[in-house]
Amino acid sequence: MDIRLALALLLCLSSKGITTTAESTTEPLTNSTLETMTEGATQNPTPASTDTNDENETFSEEDLDGPCESVGQRSRSLKFIAKAIQRIGMQLLENLEPTEKEPNVIISPLSISLALSQLALGAANETEQVLMSHLHGNTLPCYHESLHNVLEQLKSDDLQIATRIFLRQGFEPKPKFTEDSQRLYESEPAVLEGLQQINSWVEQATNGKMSAFLTSLPSNWLLMLINAVHFKGEWSSRFDPQLTSKGAFHLNENQLVEVEMMEGPKQPLSMYNDQQMGARVARLKFRKSMSLIMVMPTSRRVNVSRLVEKLSISDIYSRLPEEQAVKVTIPKLKLEYTQELQDVFTNLGLGEMFSNPNLAGIADAPLMVSSVMHKSSMELNEEGAEAAAATAVIISRLSTPIFSIDRPFFFTLVDDKTKVPILMGVVNNPNPGAPIMQTPEPGSKDQVLIDKIDMSSKGLPPK
Ligand SMILES: *[C@@H]1O[C@H](CO)[C@@H](O)[C@H](O)[C@H]1NC(C)=O
Ligand SMILES: *[C@@H]1O[C@H](CO)[C@@H](O)[C@H](O)[C@H]1NC(C)=O
Ligand SMILES: *[C@@H]1O[C@H](CO)[C@@H](O)[C@H](O)[C@H]1NC(C)=O
Ligand SMILES: *[C@@H]1O[C@H](CO)[C@@H](O)[C@H](O)[C@H]1NC(C)=O
Repeated sequence: MDIRLALALLLCLSSKGITTTAESTTEPLTNSTLETMTEGATQNPTPASTDTNDENETFSEEDLDGPCESVGQRSRSLKFIAKAIQRIGMQLLENLEPTEKEPNVIISPLSISLALSQLALGAANETEQVLMSHLHGNTLPCYHESLHNVLEQLKSDDLQIATRIFLRQGFEPKPKFTEDSQRLYESEPAVLEGLQQINSWVEQATNGKMSAFLTSLPSNWLLMLINAVHFKGEWSSRFDPQLTSKGAFHLNENQLVEVEMMEGPKQPLSMYNDQQMGARVARLKFRKSMSLIMVMPTSRRVNVSRLVEKLSISDIYSRLPEEQAVKVTIPKLKLEYTQELQDVFTNLGLGEMFSNPNLAGIADAPLMVSSVMHKSSMELNEEGAEAAAATAVIISRLSTPIFSIDRPFFFTLVDDKTKVPILMGVVNNPNPGAPIMQTPEPGSKDQVLIDKIDMSSKGLPPK
């Protein structure tokens, strides 16, 4: 079964102009405000074109001018952060393949970006540069202050964001790291007494939507940077539960599943057909400055995974027309997704994080990231939507590297000075006299046991 629904569901932040029309309201009247205002005025007539130019935007000297507190509040900085979070989300979505077991992929780009940004605070030199470039924040002066201001603007009754640093008893990170984490990300340190403490914290921060976030911790862990996001919003126009009935959802050309379809006979909807993407785009609004954007291929033969490559949220916003009354049917759903992000980050070029990073901002002892756990959930019903996500970056003492010969190998015995090989060979079976046994089938009891051992030795919590 392969629904892939989540690829077409993007919970977007249209709130308070974070996307294309960012305008800071908290900024005191200074030269930078004037700058912002004139900039806004010149951009307004052509939002679509400035959006595409923004992508590789570099900042002028004037932009760099002034303390980070004020640079981070400029609407250009906020817009830049929004774009950066969009891009990291799209990159991850492109690289997280749906599987038979997990046919839907649901991630929170906000939660993941926040977790990596918290980590970047403790990174130094090359590691910091690599992280910042993956956060698309390497060309933005005052990245952390800008993200701080975006978070401030996002927080509302409907959207809650919580952060924390859990510490192993006896481990103390550098004071500057703790101070910066508190100042920029409101991340208070707390000594961890047990796994249940983390799970209770996540459960509380997600309003009860997420329990049992972690099932284990690696034995050599030292600290954990964690955040949780919770959104609950009501549709600006609710669906009548009496109109909800069974309907078909087509998995592909030949297969379908039965779902509960909600129906709004005259739902206010903004929609258009995007010829270039070969998709239909629609936006359903919540009561308070948030929207659900849905993108569905026009042809059943088109693979929704391919759409993601061409998709730009800012672009969609600039093209959405006025709302009109439309007969809308969408499935009720309640989905969850759990993923260890180490593999996908390694594919994206962040592998060093997990082997030998420079985290000198946190401590002088050699550290590594041993896991990035992400879990998210999404529920759509007649009243509205509820979404929750949590990301934990688990940092451990750099473990002793392991080298284990357990497969056929080549060897040579060489004189170091002259490099003359005295002996060489290939070993296929180091114990030719022993009886040969079957490798356990994947999924059998024995294999599960092996998986467990493998995981605990790599220090990963079970998926
Ligand atoms: C604005 O900048 C000019 C020149 O850089 C400076 O003379 C002036 O005092 C500044 N005004 C404010 C309100 O900061
Ligand atoms: C931005 O930079 C990337 C890579 O450097 C490039 O492929 C892309 O075309 C650039 N985009 C714009 C709008 O200049
Ligand atoms: C960063 O690199 C510089 C130059 O190589 C070095 O002197 C410094 O100690 C490094 N800082 C950290 C925190 O690793
Ligand atoms: C859709 O595309 C993904 C990625 O390219 C591929 O793995 C998958 O098999 C495709 N599915 C279908 C139904 O074509």
